[in-house]
Amino acid sequence: MCGIIGYIGYRKASEVIFKGLRKLEYRGYDSAGIATVSGKGISAIKDIGRIDDIHAKRNFLQLEGNMGIGHTRWATHGGVTQKNAHPHTDSTGKIYIVHNGVIENFDSLRAALAKKGHKFVSETDTEVIAHLVEEEGKKEGDFGKAFANAVAKLSGSWSLVCMHQGEEAIYLSRNGPPLILGIGKDEMFCASDVPALLDYTKRVIYIEDGDLVRFTREGYEIKNKGKKVERAVHTVTWTAKMAEKEGFDHFMLKEIHEQGGKIREALAADASGAVALLKGQQNITVVACGTSFYAGLVFKQLLQSRLGVNCDVIIGSEFAYARTGNERVVVAISQSGETADTLSAVRLAKKSGAKILGITNVTDSSLWRESDATVNIAAGPEIAVVATKSFTSQVAVLSKIALTLSGEKQEISSLSDASEQIEQVLERAGELETLASRLAPHKDFFFIGRSLSFPSALEGALKLKEITYLHAEAYAAGELKHGPLSLLQKDVVVVALAPSGTSLPKTISNMSECRARDAQLVAFSDSDEAISKSALHFRMPRVAQLAIPIVYAVPLQLLAYYMAVKLEKDPDKPRNLAKSCTVE
Ligand code: G6P
Repeated sequence: MCGIIGYIGYRKASEVIFKGLRKLEYRGYDSAGIATVSGKGISAIKDIGRIDDIHAKRNFLQLEGNMGIGHTRWATHGGVTQKNAHPHTDSTGKIYIVHNGVIENFDSLRAALAKKGHKFVSETDTEVIAHLVEEEGKKEGDFGKAFANAVAKLSGSWSLVCMHQGEEAIYLSRNGPPLILGIGKDEMFCASDVPALLDYTKRVIYIEDGDLVRFTREGYEIKNKGKKVERAVHTVTWTAKMAEKEGFDHFMLKEIHEQGGKIREALAADASGAVALLKGQQNITVVACGTSFYAGLVFKQLLQSRLGVNCDVIIGSEFAYARTGNERVVVAISQSGETADTLSAVRLAKKSGAKILGITNVTDSSLWRESDATVNIAAGPEIAVVATKSFTSQVAVLSKIALTLSGEKQEISSLSDASEQIEQVLERAGELETLASRLAPHKDFFFIGRSLSFPSALEGALKLKEITYLHAEAYAAGELKHGPLSLLQKDVVVVALAPSGTSLPKTISNMSECRARDAQLVAFSDSDEAISKSALHFRMPRVAQLAIPIVYAVPLQLLAYYMAVKLEKDPDKPRNLAKSCTVE
């Protein structure tokens, strides 16, 4: 959450930062700002709204100079106002700072600084840091030391990028949210994530917690606990093109369309380390959030039904309360590998001796580096805030692991068929667009499924609510009669996932119960009987049981996408949400 960036070099800093912020906008987009240093001093432009809109109104490129910092915000402290937008500055207007994270002791710091005469113009925790650096600078002539002293007084989580007038250098500190250093020739960058740098360099360093960094256009120095440290330089394999829309109207649509190919790549992932770690375990705990949590539910079902192994799937933010403390193996699933709730669960589990298996899309992410074994789901950059291809790739990888553990490797071929079946669904996207037009006037949606289609129902409802802002929830089909049936009436839509298989007859009975209450029934099914019971339908290809969560996810993603477009909502940037949630 929140995207931050810094640049020193020979290019126009405002241009590099503006372009970089557009690539980081998935991390937050309620306001944005850039500050640069030129011969005339420091200038800043910040405002509320999307980066392109602010640029159209205020023109970021009027900012001159070859050094600068920028920020795209997802509000934590203080409302969405121009004053609360970053960068923030101190009393002198010479120190500028951008921040991703939450400073937990900012109230007491602010009160102490106010007593010393500091005046604050925003409600943010970040502004307090700028003033703290200023205050430390009064005692300490060296800016780097003043910055380090200020950082030492903070508690909470942060990635900080700070510059001041009078020195061509940028200072960084990380304690939680990710921060990357990009190494160019006669230029240096820092950013929250790789896509912001892909146009300029592929050589990156992942800044670690506790690191304090000073960089200039020629180089960098990293210190941790007062000592100089070396960090490995990595070469990223993602290309700038991978992070472009490539002709699609939205990233979400592009990412949905990539899934056929991505499943094949996910199934080819090296899962040997994962299998070695899980082999013989009778109790496995999964931690994850959002869509990744639903992928975890699929894994649970496979492990329990095929291996007879007990598997608990715990939401990252609940792990601290729900854990036994005896977890031996924890599987953490996270597209970004940076979700704070998941990472804090991982760190707690590690403290009590658990081994960690990280399933992620981002090699060298925090999760990747902190895990004992890892699997790269290889979905490529996912830019739309809502997860699509990462879900199907996670499920493919997790299914492969479960089938390898259960000695049913031959069954992996039924998952390879999912690739082809996804392509078949994608070819009929027009039918889903028509269905979306029919459903767009409705306000309430229930998604139901049984067995392996239940996680898909959860995912379908999540996609719809995230990007259309309509009320959508999911239930195990048999659970409706235990409460939610009371909500059904004419105009309420029930989307029933009804794949052929042992659960179908019971799902059809549940569908009949909904129809009897006048609900608008929409079937996603390959069964004539299920389709004949429904007012509307999308005919699914017949798929193997194992492939259900993967193949059924795709038309639900498309339905949500087309409904968002019909309702004139931006599917890539849903209101109030952000990708890579780096705060708890
Ligand atoms: C955010 C995103 C979701 C995502 C969740 C977990 O809430 O909006 O799309 O599923 O984070 O993210 P992760 O990167 O850990 O999979």
